[in-house]
Amino acid sequence: MTPENTTAANAGTQRSAVVILAAGKGTRMRSDTPKVLHRIGGAPMLHHAMRTALSLAPARLAVVVGHDPANWAEAVGEAARALVPNVAICKQPEQLGTGHAARMATPALEGFAGDVFVLFADTPFLAPETLARMAAARDGGADIVALGFEAETPGAYGRMVTGPGNSLERIVEARDATPEELAIRTCNSGVIAADCAILLRLLAEVRNDNAKGEYYLTDIIGLARAEGLTARVVRCDEAETLGINDRVQLAEAEATFQARARREAMLAGASMTAPETVFLAWDTEIDRDVSIGPNVVIGPGVRIEDGARIEAFCHLENCRIGAGAGVGPFARLRGGAQVGRGCRIGNFVELKNAVFGDGAKASHLSYVGDASVGPKANIGAGTVTCNYDGFGKHRSEIGAGAFIGTNSSLIAPVSVGDNAYVGTGTVVTKDVPEDAVAVARAPQANHDGLAPRMRERLLARSSKKKD
Ligand code: UD1
Ligand code: CA
Repeated sequence: MTPENTTAANAGTQRSAVVILAAGKGTRMRSDTPKVLHRIGGAPMLHHAMRTALSLAPARLAVVVGHDPANWAEAVGEAARALVPNVAICKQPEQLGTGHAARMATPALEGFAGDVFVLFADTPFLAPETLARMAAARDGGADIVALGFEAETPGAYGRMVTGPGNSLERIVEARDATPEELAIRTCNSGVIAADCAILLRLLAEVRNDNAKGEYYLTDIIGLARAEGLTARVVRCDEAETLGINDRVQLAEAEATFQARARREAMLAGASMTAPETVFLAWDTEIDRDVSIGPNVVIGPGVRIEDGARIEAFCHLENCRIGAGAGVGPFARLRGGAQVGRGCRIGNFVELKNAVFGDGAKASHLSYVGDASVGPKANIGAGTVTCNYDGFGKHRSEIGAGAFIGTNSSLIAPVSVGDNAYVGTGTVVTKDVPEDAVAVARAPQANHDGLAPRMRERLLARSSKKKD
């Protein structure tokens, strides 16, 4: 977890902790994967919530995971630790409600004094600014701050019973609400912030005598008011609190994510011919004056530097494309591909774990894997680095300015020295020294006048067959 720091943005929240509830079963996903591990923009939903939480620079971060099936708790815990190694994983043995779930974080909050924010793991679009506004409301003196929104269709959301000046009296779940309460449009997003000691004390008082027989986190508002504590609503856009319950909503969330990511990339100086056909990931980095053609899919871990051109139908993941490079159309860059400045990676070229020095080229129809290619080297059409022997992977090293003739195979491990030539069609089985020319192909024999005779023979054979 990020250590408490002193930047202005989180000056008011240095003493905060975040509890993320992720124990729900997510039955409506109909999946063998826990709901919060389904991905948006290439990252598990849980990570989106965790990253928002990290914007508070929390002193503690806890994720509440379910118990059943056991391997789900394990999987969610592992995913959480992958992002924040020292996150506290708290198990909720039975899904008895959001209030019960929040209580399961008690051990993780032991000895902590400060504000606790409770977030849901299935609400990936919550903005850091919104948490900052909640923190500001806490600093402004409200004992409990709950995040609400004006719902288009209030449906099953909890209704927020408010008073003057954004004061909050209680939150009533739709199932427990009176018709008058159901008419309220201000709905509960689920995010709550309160002083840790107060929160834990109130959570212990929550009862489950309601329509669902659950311990509601939301009940702490009414309990707080009964004690004379103050509660306030901070409002956000409905889109920010979008929760994901099934695969239709997952796809809608993905569309929302993509629309935002494209817009941000374009506003930051990238051009897209057909933005609606370009897919980005949560961590895609695109510099100025990059142009991206139609139907480009970008997975996680991609950085595209100034002025690079990605032409139509490219698939990129875990790779870096240097300034001014040209990629595609129809190129595939896989994990560990690093393309230097001004490189040219053309159609039907696949790179995997391959580093291309500045100005190197592979313009057509090649596979380059587990390789380094020196600056200004040229890889001819149809070149293949034969990196895999069925058991292990082996490297090909191609020097600066080397020229690999078309349709060559490099049987790795092998190296081609700087400025060496490899003749067209060569199968390179041993290292080629610097400045050497390597040719390994059967010598050509010309048989003068043989073609007509051969044609006659072939014709005779084929007419015999027809008889
Ligand atoms: C909750 C709120 C409701 C709000 C709505 C917004 C309560 C009682 N109700 O209702 O006011 O309008 O969210 O979407 O808080 N979870 C656990 N353990 C449990 C139960 C839930 O970890 O035992 C987690 C879920 O994984 C999920 C979150 O808590 O991330 C919300 O649970 P959910 O059952 O979806 O709450 P709602 O009924 O939608
Ligand atoms: Ca829900």
